[in-house]
Amino acid sequence: MELTTNYLGLTLAHPFMPGASPLSDNLDTVRELEDAGASAIVMRSLFEEQVVRDRYGLVYATHTDTATRAAIASYFPSSSEYALTPHQYLEQIRLIKARVSIPVIASLNGTTAEGWLECARALQSAGADAVELNFYHIATDVLEDGNSVERRLLNVVAVLKETVRIQVAVKLSPFYSSLPHLASRIESLGADGLVLFNRFYQPDIDPDELDAAPRLQLSASSDLLLRLRWLAILSQSVRGSLAVTGGVHEPIHAVKAVMAGADGVQLVSALLQKGPWHLTTIRRGFEQWCEAHRYGSIDQIRDSMSLALSPDPHAFERGHYARILQSWGR
Ligand SMILES: Cc1cc2nc3c(=O)[nH]c(=O)nc-3n(C[C@H](O)[C@H](O)[C@H](O)COP(=O)(O)O)c2cc1C
Repeated sequence: MELTTNYLGLTLAHPFMPGASPLSDNLDTVRELEDAGASAIVMRSLFEEQVVRDRYGLVYATHTDTATRAAIASYFPSSSEYALTPHQYLEQIRLIKARVSIPVIASLNGTTAEGWLECARALQSAGADAVELNFYHIATDVLEDGNSVERRLLNVVAVLKETVRIQVAVKLSPFYSSLPHLASRIESLGADGLVLFNRFYQPDIDPDELDAAPRLQLSASSDLLLRLRWLAILSQSVRGSLAVTGGVHEPIHAVKAVMAGADGVQLVSALLQKGPWHLTTIRRGFEQWCEAHRYGSIDQIRDSMSLALSPDPHAFERGHYARILQSWGR
């Protein structure tokens, strides 16, 4: 079974890799991931706020009022709470590159196209083979319309592409008015791939403390459905790479993601819960399923589903929506 895939211009042995997470923090774990068959390593993110604080000693310098600035600064981790300082992040890239022979994808997490993006050049010099940009942005400003939010993302992508030679993937959220249009604009700026989707960590409320109660919840396989829909829709127009992140826990989830159009399949929650060797289970299970169903290559699996895709995804969505609502109780 030919599992080779092209992801961001990198030829990978297969699509399965650990996604951005603490799994890249420990060099022994990274080595274990490679031994378990990871085709690449995606590192945890280096945050814009870290880089800005490291350089200028401030987070969100735009507020003039000192009390507001202090309140905002208190939302963020202190420098020592981040797992890696910007300097240590670069060192970690070098150490990982020295330890494993698979590609290493660094991750930047930010929402402005300001000077902090220059640090991408340092990631490249440290040996990163590609960079994943996580644009984690929640639109909260009544004066910022949808177009401006998209422009903000596109500016970050444009500056990042001008800054580095290595390939750039953009990790998106699903909450845009028209993802196909946005995806085509991101591609037109030269981005090499999209990663679907960012998971938003939704704070709960602690009613006794009258405070927000942020919780880190690992994913469930039900998270995959949203990704499958958008992989299937975007794979019809996106020419670059597509990766899935969110809800892949078992081999059959990986089969569905590749069928829907994924070139790369990232796992985090499943590996945190079951350990790096679960990657071997995913790859073997994927291979067994494909062989049992007489598929010979990744391309063949992807093509098999694209033949079944609707020529009119809008009508497909409306039609199936109407039908499913009628089916209750019948
Ligand atoms: C503990 C933890 C840390 C994470 N750190 C990052 C990060 O630094 N950057 C990032 O882009 N995503 C980060 N993520 C999100 C994952 O990369 C991934 O997109 C998400 O967990 C969904 O994939 P999964 O269902 O395989 O867990 C993190 C997730 C977890 C659980």
